[in-house]
Amino acid sequence: MASPIEGIAGGTMSSDTGTLYAIGVGPGDPDFLTLKALKILKKIRFIFTAASGEKKKSLALTIALPHLKNKPEIIPLIFPMVRDKTILEEAWEKAALKVLSVLDKGEDAAFVTLGDPSTYSTFTYLHRVLTQKRPEVNVQIVPGITSFQAAAARVQIPLAEGEESLMIVSGAKGSTEIEKAIDCCDNMVIMKAYKYYRDIVDTLERLNLLDKTVAVRRIGLKGESVTNRLKEWDGQSPSYFTLLLTKKGNQAKKLDSD
Ligand SMILES: C[S@@+](CC[C@H](N)C(=O)[O-])C[C@H]1O[C@@H](n2cnc3c(N)ncnc32)[C@H](O)[C@@H]1O
Repeated sequence: MASPIEGIAGGTMSSDTGTLYAIGVGPGDPDFLTLKALKILKKIRFIFTAASGEKKKSLALTIALPHLKNKPEIIPLIFPMVRDKTILEEAWEKAALKVLSVLDKGEDAAFVTLGDPSTYSTFTYLHRVLTQKRPEVNVQIVPGITSFQAAAARVQIPLAEGEESLMIVSGAKGSTEIEKAIDCCDNMVIMKAYKYYRDIVDTLERLNLLDKTVAVRRIGLKGESVTNRLKEWDGQSPSYFTLLLTKKGNQAKKLDSD
């Protein structure tokens, strides 16, 4: 099916409204954008970004910036970092209406998001509300390199080999989900490992997994660091951009800390 942007294969199209391209920009290095993302970003005239507050910057936009040749209009969408469902639903509703107001003029737009749009991304919430409001809305999702793929490449540890399994868990609420999951997988990616870093590290130690884990911070960004001495990061101000790679079967490689 045709797409409004030349050279991009399209999805479902309704002719008189624009298409929203959800673009995964990778975890930090602007060279990790896909060619497909690049083709779209070079031509697009409207870019939506996710920010946690009015004056907050979007890291996804910073990553995409070197590739924006068309001086697009940047439209921030506010997604507050709170757990209150009423506040969140109001924010998603407002964001969806902003997006629709552009698409309804027949204009295409991009929503840029860190890593991949289908992996713990604010795009998921926006997409859900958009399709509830307008089931025929034209959306194309452009996958991006996830933070854990870039981290595995950086430390040269395979995420999974042969018949092994790989589990991706969130550490946002502490180590409970990790303990539940660890028995049934060979390899684990622990994302959002910043707030409860110490709790997660203590749990890994109790499960004899400390020497099988590598911690990666700010991959592809200023201040990137990697360590297998996880306890050394205790007490440091935690970076939101922290993830852990655990390989149950292997000793983690000896890595240089920052
Ligand atoms: C809301 S999730 C976004 C995940 C993103 N969509 C992806 O595909 O990687 C945020 C979490 O992803 C991980 N993350 C994202 N970017 C990162 C980076 N550059 N370095 C290390 N971890 C990162 C961290 O665990 C962070 O808490």
